[in-house]
Amino acid sequence: MSEQHVPESQASASTGPFAIEARKLRRQFGSMVAVDELDLQVPAGCFLGFLGANGAGKSTTIKMLTGLLPPTSGASQILGHSMGPDALQAKRAIGVVPEDLAIHDRLTGQEYLTFVGRMYGLQGSVIKERSAELLAWMSLDTEPRKLIIDYSHGMQKKLALAAALIHDPQVLFLDEPFEGIDVIASGEIRALLGKLVARGVTIFLTTHVLEIVEKLCSHVAIIHKGKLVAHGPLEELKRGVETDTGSTQTLEEIFFELVEVDRSVAPALSWLS
Ligand SMILES: Nc1ncnc2c1ncn2[C@@H]1O[C@H](COP(=O)(O)OP(=O)(O)O)[C@@H](O)[C@H]1O
Ligand SMILES: [Mg+2]
Repeated sequence: MSEQHVPESQASASTGPFAIEARKLRRQFGSMVAVDELDLQVPAGCFLGFLGANGAGKSTTIKMLTGLLPPTSGASQILGHSMGPDALQAKRAIGVVPEDLAIHDRLTGQEYLTFVGRMYGLQGSVIKERSAELLAWMSLDTEPRKLIIDYSHGMQKKLALAAALIHDPQVLFLDEPFEGIDVIASGEIRALLGKLVARGVTIFLTTHVLEIVEKLCSHVAIIHKGKLVAHGPLEELKRGVETDTGSTQTLEEIFFELVEVDRSVAPALSWLS
């Protein structure tokens, strides 16, 4: 299978730099290679689903792409700006909802958004307007005095998304945004992501759930044991990609094959059999 499956039509449609570009991105933890020489190019305006089983390397990739974790080797760019030691421009262009939400939980939602807005250097009037709109959109405005510590998990995820959006980023990174939230919060987040894509925002979303990618994304990349195994427009991958051996595999076949590999290495629970 071709590891880098970007059709010509897609590449030529994109003018200027890619929204997200990784070159030979690699991260080791001790002797364990979590992400292995990852090459990825995401044109502006794509909604990319970054799919992989637990432990495949999704969060490690997102942390490197957003500057939260330095790569062992390789490099990445956001809209042509390097995510290296001097990454201010790249970081200004992105919003991130990480897997473990590190929110100051002794604040109210409004206070937290004000704090984040100030960090980005936004004017007070802009912060006021945007935070009110975001809190209303996320249905987080009904109890304005509630502290974040008393928010449900779904409310905290929505607030983290609001905080990631307050500076109007061009590229949005979401690590498992639908994990542990109910259908109502999930519906609100989906609707908001749809609006952002319509505005031309590029979204990079990690998930281990194939259905989420199929419902939401325009493009998909699949990572398995740290290696990118497929990458391209969803519709094209659903029709199938040619493998190294010349046969054709669909997205479902590729994904379930990978999941099957992971199931087979799980230890048997003798006391349950
Ligand atoms: N800080 C760390 N120290 C050691 N190993 C890590 C660390 N972060 C991730 N790993 C390992 O790297 C691999 C990939 O992890 P991760 O990127 O979190 O996977 P995913 O998000 O796809 O579930 C896993 O084997 C995980 O245990
Ligand atoms: Mg993860």
